[in-house]
Amino acid sequence: MLFDIDRLIVSFDRGLRTVFAPAVSVRAVPGEDLTETQMDPARREHAASLMRVNHTGEICAQALYQGQALTARSTDAQSALERAAQEETEHLAWTERRIEELGGRKSLLNPVWYAGSFAIGAAAGLLGDRWNLGFLAETERQVVEHLDGHLRELPAEDQKSRAIVGEMRMDEARHATSALEHGAGDLPGPARLLMRIASRVMTRTSYWI
Ligand SMILES: [Fe+2]
Ligand SMILES: [Fe+2]
Repeated sequence: MLFDIDRLIVSFDRGLRTVFAPAVSVRAVPGEDLTETQMDPARREHAASLMRVNHTGEICAQALYQGQALTARSTDAQSALERAAQEETEHLAWTERRIEELGGRKSLLNPVWYAGSFAIGAAAGLLGDRWNLGFLAETERQVVEHLDGHLRELPAEDQKSRAIVGEMRMDEARHATSALEHGAGDLPGPARLLMRIASRVMTRTSYWI
């Protein structure tokens, strides 16, 4: 059997909690000590939408890691993936809280994004650890680029969102490095392009829905 039923049940339970229960952060929320600045309503809404996109991105990260851990071959890769998923819950908590502060809401399609990403993650795991970790490294590299874009796009006065995104960017870069250290392979160009297209569909949609 490709994976045991107990692990599958644990993953399913974790998925439900990721999508429906509030996330908890152990680390301090970046920018917590900064004071809230007065923002023009339209700019505030734009910031809330961008943070919704980032929150959905973290939902997808959770799902990918859980899916990948489910089908990872070695226990070493499995524990690296589960550890990474744990760290991503902090990002989930930070973005969730910031959306609330900005008066926004989370994406209504999060259960769909979770299910789709979980399936993609599980499929990547079936290709073996080298490609599984390669997929993780490429995901994180693309997330870093995406967050750089958001740092350019977020209103300059929204220092609190910027602090969160900046900290996340550093974490994601570290996740990519750790995947490479664990033996990640370089994904072929078409696979990287497909990933870019998939994430563009997700980011464009969750900005609105
Ligand atoms: Fe993250
Ligand atoms: Fe990450």
